[in-house]
Amino acid sequence: MKKIVIAIDGFSSCGKSTMAKDLAREVGYIYIDSGAMYRAVTLYSMENGIFNGDVIDTEKLRNEIKNIHISFRLNPETGRPDTYLNGVNVENRIRTMEVSSKVSPISALDFVREAMVAQQQAMGKEKGIVMDGRDIGTTVFPDAELKIFVTATPEIRAQRRYDELKAKGQEASFDEILENVKQRDYIDQNRDVSPLRKADDALLLDNTDLTIEQQKGWLFEHFNKVN
Ligand code: C5P
Repeated sequence: MKKIVIAIDGFSSCGKSTMAKDLAREVGYIYIDSGAMYRAVTLYSMENGIFNGDVIDTEKLRNEIKNIHISFRLNPETGRPDTYLNGVNVENRIRTMEVSSKVSPISALDFVREAMVAQQQAMGKEKGIVMDGRDIGTTVFPDAELKIFVTATPEIRAQRRYDELKAKGQEASFDEILENVKQRDYIDQNRDVSPLRKADDALLLDNTDLTIEQQKGWLFEHFNKVN
């Protein structure tokens, strides 16, 4: 069976990564969470005096971006890839509300996107990859054989994120999460470089009222059509 590139884009917390991970596992493809890469750059910026939440020291980040190396390694306990920043496992630290609230301004910077897109394209050179994000079908892999754009109402997305954090035992406020989801949607859709939008040739999936199983069925149906 020929290997293809699968691009899954969409809004924050709409279940893209669950979909992408499941599909990659079932078909034996590599899974890359491109949002984790922007989160790792944000964590780096927070920990190195570049971004305190108000002002970004863009010159410092521009100089240091070449020293920010992001990679993924399979965690044998979870069976899922963990994110490494300069060789250190940052998987848990990049998923906090603090990082979520700071990531969109960092990922709106053109030189940050250039660096990440180059790394993402290198990861997909051999195909056999499922990547999820905001600009995968439009910018990173415009020739991807299968493109999906996922959406759901902000309320349902906030509820899913709330349940996820609670399940991990983390403190969470539904209102704060809903606010964050809406704010990220706004910044991601309105930035100058690679704004979040559906590629013309992407399939639209609104999963507001779908169960995980129904969504899986939909996904496999479309995967089998292009293979
Ligand atoms: O996917 P996730 O919600 O973890 O992504 C975090 C943030 O990273 C997004 O809100 C967006 O600002 C940014 N992002 C991006 N381009 C991507 C993936 C994520 O700008 N391809």
